[in-house]
Order: sequence, then structure tokens, then C-alpha cells
Amino acid sequence: MALMLDDALLSSILDEVRPLARLGKVADYIPALAEVAGDKLGIAVCTVDGDCFAAGDAHERFSIQSVSKVLSLVLAMGRYDEAEIWQRVGKDPSGQPFNSLVQLELEQGKPRNPFINAGALVICDMLQTRLSAPRQRMLEWVRQLSGVEDISYDTRVARSEFEHAARNAAIAWLMKSFGNFHNDVTTVLQNYFHYCALKMSCAELAKTFLFLARQGRAPHLAEPVISPLQTRQVNALMATSGMYENAGEFAWRVGMPGKSGVGGGIVAVVPHEMSIAVWSPALDNAGNSLAGVAALEILAQKIGRSVY
Ligand code: DON
Repeated sequence: MALMLDDALLSSILDEVRPLARLGKVADYIPALAEVAGDKLGIAVCTVDGDCFAAGDAHERFSIQSVSKVLSLVLAMGRYDEAEIWQRVGKDPSGQPFNSLVQLELEQGKPRNPFINAGALVICDMLQTRLSAPRQRMLEWVRQLSGVEDISYDTRVARSEFEHAARNAAIAWLMKSFGNFHNDVTTVLQNYFHYCALKMSCAELAKTFLFLARQGRAPHLAEPVISPLQTRQVNALMATSGMYENAGEFAWRVGMPGKSGVGGGIVAVVPHEMSIAVWSPALDNAGNSLAGVAALEILAQKIGRSVY
């Protein structure tokens, strides 16, 4: 089906979902996130044909938070054999809040998937083992993928996260007690918080994640980011676990692999066609952007796309 997509369509979708932002709640567990204006709203789409469309606050940077969990997984997939990763973290939806400890205790310290905090912390632990400077490496790599040289960490957010690290530290220590965490907890937490504190815009995110719509190849890079098979695997994990306990609801409404962050960003992928990024900081109870999900739902309907 021919793709009917332009800036005006994106703009009209934002107008439709704008009132919803008032019903959500901006993340307030750290001051640096609580200060973000709740009425920010942006969307950007990059197609595999090389077009990029944008509307609203699509060029304003925000804290990508858990969207970074996809980036850290992909970075690890390039450095570890498949079996080494998946013996330490599962591939199933958790059905639990992203920072829950309950399941982890019952399942001997093996997180359900790499997109809940526990799973992302194991992946960061693995990166700490294999990379000499994991923080710097992530930054260089995201700059390469996005083609934007000045992408950086919001150090205030990272510091603030570290001051409120109790729950993530508890998760890491619990995994250590089961032998599923090998490096110094504080060092790995610091890396994890920096990844969460990456500051990017919707336009930059859509460009960065385009490789997931292109069988693992970024249009401007000679080497594949990951293989076509790994791309399918990452998209499958996003579809089943990218939206935490609302993954089913998101599949039902939007029908695309997606990954959210408590900064209000969501990245979604239509394999073989496009990558999408939306941003609206007001969240629903699961920590997903309320207006962001609605914008993706309307976009999916208007362009007639779903992976199901
Ligand atoms: O570690 C945390 O809990 C936060 N820095 C990130 C959580 C997050 O973005 C969950 N996403 N919806």
C-alpha cells in the first residue's frame, strides 16, 4: 500500500492527541525530569526511502531514559555470542512494572528480558566486562548512528538518578547474590544512569533507530549495525517487552514494536518501512507516554500499517 505521509499529517495527529497530555503525569522521581514542561509534544518519522518528516517539538532534546535499553542491548549483541547473552537474561515479557524486584527473586536473579531495569543492568554489566570505556563508547556509537556529533549525556540527570539509586542498586545486588552480576555495582549503575540520561530529539531518535527498519543497516554506514536475524530478534523483543506491563495493550492499539522511556519518548518500528519517535512527557500508570501511545495509534491507522 502506498505510503501517504508528510509533515502536515504528523502535525494533525499531534493536534488530535494534545489534550491527552493533561491526563498523564510527568515523571517526578528526580527534579531534573519533574521540571520538564508537560505540554511538550513532538513526532518524527524516517522512511527506508530516505525521507524524514517531523512535527511539533521534534527537534527539542529530552532524556531518552529506557529507550536507551535497546541501544545497550544492540551494543552487547555485537560483542557477545548469542548464548552468552541469553543465558543471563530472558526473552519473555515480565508483566510487571519496569523496576520490580519480585520476579527476580523468584527466578534466581535472571531477569525476564533486557528491557526491564534488571535486564538492562545485566546488559550494562556485560558491557563493562568487554568495553574499556563503556560510557564513551556508547556516546561515540550513538553519534555515528544518528550522524549528529554533539549528542551528549545530561550529567545533571545522571547525577540525580545516582542520588536516587536505591531500587536499581537493590536489583543489581540481588542479581549479584545469584551470581548474575560480575562487576562493581556502583560503576555499572553509573554507566546505566548515563545511558538513561542520553539527551536526544525525536528527529535524532528516528534517524538512530532506522537500522531496525532496514534489516540492521544504517543508510549512511558501510558496516551493518547488526545482522538481519538479530534485527528481527530485537524487534520481537520490543514488541513483546518494550512497553512493560502494557506491551499487550500497545500491540493491540499500535501494532508495532516499540520502546518507551519515562522521559516521555517512544521509539517504534515498521520493519522494512520506517522508524518513528514520539515525545510527550506526561505518562500513564505503566510509565509510558500517554499522548505518545495515542499518536502512534492514530498514525498506524492513518497509514494502514501493523506487523500483525
Ligand atoms: O532506572 C530507571 O528506573 C529510570 N532511569 C528509567 C526507567 C524508564 O525509563 C522506564 N520506562 N518507561
